[in-house]
Amino acid sequence: MAKRTDTKLATQLVTGGRTPEWTGPVVNPPVWRGSTHLYENMAALTSPSKPNADGEFFYGRRGAPTQWALAEALTELEPGAFGTMLYPSGVAAISATLLTVLAPGDVLLMTDNAYDPSRLFARGMLNEFGIETRFFAPSDVPGFEAMIDRRCRAVLLESPGSLTMEVQDVPTLARIARERGLVSIIDNTWASPLGLQPLSLGLDISVMSLTKHVAGHSDVMMGSAAAGEEWYGKLRRRAQALGQVVSPDDAALVLRGLRTLKVRLDQETSSALQVASWLQTRPEVALVLSPLLPGSPGHELWRRDFTGGCGLFSFILRKADAAARARFVDALELFGIGYSFGGFESLVIPVDPAPIRSVTPWPPGGVDAADRLGLRLSIGLEDPADLIADLQRGFAAMAAE
Ligand SMILES: Cc1ncc(COP(=O)(O)O)c(C=O)c1O
Repeated sequence: MAKRTDTKLATQLVTGGRTPEWTGPVVNPPVWRGSTHLYENMAALTSPSKPNADGEFFYGRRGAPTQWALAEALTELEPGAFGTMLYPSGVAAISATLLTVLAPGDVLLMTDNAYDPSRLFARGMLNEFGIETRFFAPSDVPGFEAMIDRRCRAVLLESPGSLTMEVQDVPTLARIARERGLVSIIDNTWASPLGLQPLSLGLDISVMSLTKHVAGHSDVMMGSAAAGEEWYGKLRRRAQALGQVVSPDDAALVLRGLRTLKVRLDQETSSALQVASWLQTRPEVALVLSPLLPGSPGHELWRRDFTGGCGLFSFILRKADAAARARFVDALELFGIGYSFGGFESLVIPVDPAPIRSVTPWPPGGVDAADRLGLRLSIGLEDPADLIADLQRGFAAMAAE
């Protein structure tokens, strides 16, 4: 099967990584398990033309066709990427990326809505290594620019923030970062490259937790970082120095999930829009935080920059205490209670960002200061009418003391 390079992302989900030498006669690359790679003779072992390069057998830590196929499929999906590194989790991808771009004495600028373990890594290990982190309000572009001084080396964005859903002005932040000599990184887990193409918008490195939408079946952990040639080379060297490798079994699971990413995301986005619109009509809800909703915070930027959505959004309860929120959650029968998103099944978790924020207020503007308790929903592939009926059960339980 000859490979075309002029196809759309939806087609590339189907064709990506299916290099004939890696797949043989089957459709998806089989699981190539192995630590030792054997050489034919001494000449092959010592040949200077036997590089430690992508797509070349060398040793298990460099991967084999299953991991190469997944990395290549992800690179094809990411316009502007030269290569993609795989890591054993999304957090591993974020920490290895930051350890690639930063050195002692540097300052990292981080959006205040960043995933909590990203913040913890910065405040913990990076701080111990003499790297300072400063947080900026996700929507404050002038504030971000004003913070840049000669020690600032990199910026980490997350858009929408995966708890509070602020959409950042990614192209403008990317332009400022480039003009001021910062390396720009985004956690693109919410959108995936189907919804946002960060390198095309001027960012340097796009990181994802593949655990979420890409794997899509809540049964495997993995992360990735995609970049142009210069940063990809540096990410690769640092990942090798840190001994980062993913198992071929896990790579096969993620590759299987990748093939159906678009249909799942399209369905989840459509269902999320229905559920979020219904929540907007409920008197128990102070504010729905979903960039998919016209009139919601971030919607205009989302329409301008994004080519798709997902099933993840949050909402803030009106006049509810912690016990009422717990009754709501415990009454749900279809939403599992769990810290993840992007699987085929719907999930709910409480949202209480105030203690982890540095510079942005919670609740957000327009919400009564007393209404602080939020919930995050990850809408899966169930019928949205059933999900709405489930949430109705939650509201009924909330009302019944
Ligand atoms: C936005 C975001 N980035 C990164 C991660 C980390 O991914 P992983 O759980 O694969 O380590 C998560 C996990 O919840 C996340 O929500």
